[in-house]
Amino acid sequence: MTDQPAGTVSALLAEIADIGSDPHRGGYSRPVYSDAEHELREWFTGHAAKRGLDVETDRNGIIWAWDGTPGPDAVVTGSHLDSVPGGGAFDGPLGIASALVAFDELTTRGVSRRSRAIAVFPEEEGSRFGLACLGSQLLTGVVNPERALALKDGDGTTFAEACAAAGLDPAHVGADPESLARIGAFVELHVEQGRGLIELGEPVAVASSILGHGRWRITLRGEGNHAGATLMTDRRDPMVAAGKLLVAIQALARETPEARATVGRLEPTPGGTNVIASRVDLWVDVRHPDDVVVHAVVEQIRQAAAALAAEEGCEVSVVEESYSPTVDFDARLRDDLVKVLGGAPVLGTGAGHDAGVLKNHVRTAMLFVRNPTGVSHAPSEHVEDPDAEAGATALADSLEFLITR
Ligand code: GLV
Ligand code: MN
Ligand code: MN
Ligand code: MN
Repeated sequence: MTDQPAGTVSALLAEIADIGSDPHRGGYSRPVYSDAEHELREWFTGHAAKRGLDVETDRNGIIWAWDGTPGPDAVVTGSHLDSVPGGGAFDGPLGIASALVAFDELTTRGVSRRSRAIAVFPEEEGSRFGLACLGSQLLTGVVNPERALALKDGDGTTFAEACAAAGLDPAHVGADPESLARIGAFVELHVEQGRGLIELGEPVAVASSILGHGRWRITLRGEGNHAGATLMTDRRDPMVAAGKLLVAIQALARETPEARATVGRLEPTPGGTNVIASRVDLWVDVRHPDDVVVHAVVEQIRQAAAALAAEEGCEVSVVEESYSPTVDFDARLRDDLVKVLGGAPVLGTGAGHDAGVLKNHVRTAMLFVRNPTGVSHAPSEHVEDPDAEAGATALADSLEFLITR
């Protein structure tokens, strides 16, 4: 991504290629309100200001860049700049860079009938405070602000403290119907997190649906003790219960067609090589096209956890941290965009997005751009330059359709 023609998506992404790069994990670690994410926000607001857009940050830390008077029937596009730990370069920033390029294209085309804006949502990944799409869930009132403000990151910093450090007033965090009412329609462009477009041989798709997905925290408690002095028969080791549980979770998900269950994070306490852990926390992410099946799989996981913890003389608790029901995007808008984009294919996704939250409140659509590795949430996530430009053009065409109809 170097020496790209100015004004392209690739050139914009090249400007941020060093921000938040993570030499330890590989890829990018850009947690919300970290130095890296602030730097990305400044990069975005700089570009928005250069284009004459009016920039504001709302009470929930969502950046809005307006062309025209804000609302009430504005056409809005946007995505996020935060990342998972060790994530790729495109999940989030591709949608923001494409929005800037699409706005340039709309200006060149002289499209101006209706106001438009680019929105940057904070904590889409939930990688710092554990609740994905936190910005859009606060905006829409899906998440209770008291609950959100009390969330803690891995260092014990509360979301309230992080908001205050970012210049927001925690007392004003929460549902913002006035801000929401400004959006007439919303379109999010995103790197595809899968192989659908590779298989179809197409650069861009329109989204149909998002799997129901949630996160559950499982805490196993045993007895901390000495690695050398404790007989194997005298142990209550939650790490062993956790290991058995990982295998059981995999088996349960494999037995359930279309289910996905992942434990990507596991924290033993105190975490010493020569210490039997006293406690293990692990987080399981479960997804399926049917919300009922998600909850049935979680119930089976609960039962397996209880049985396996008992086998090791441990106790267990399972707490739901978040749940996002299955999303079907507006079928009429989806079909309109398929036509606007010359018969683009339609694809579902297993990944969550702010568009999935906004969908319950405003007319919403998503575009996916081909990812030649099929890998996401990892450094090898990729988009080829011509596909990135095709995506921005598709976004401009979609926004023009919404603005002029
Ligand atoms: C976020 O991208 C998620 O789907 O978890
Ligand atoms: Mn994303
Ligand atoms: Mn993501
Ligand atoms: Mn996502």
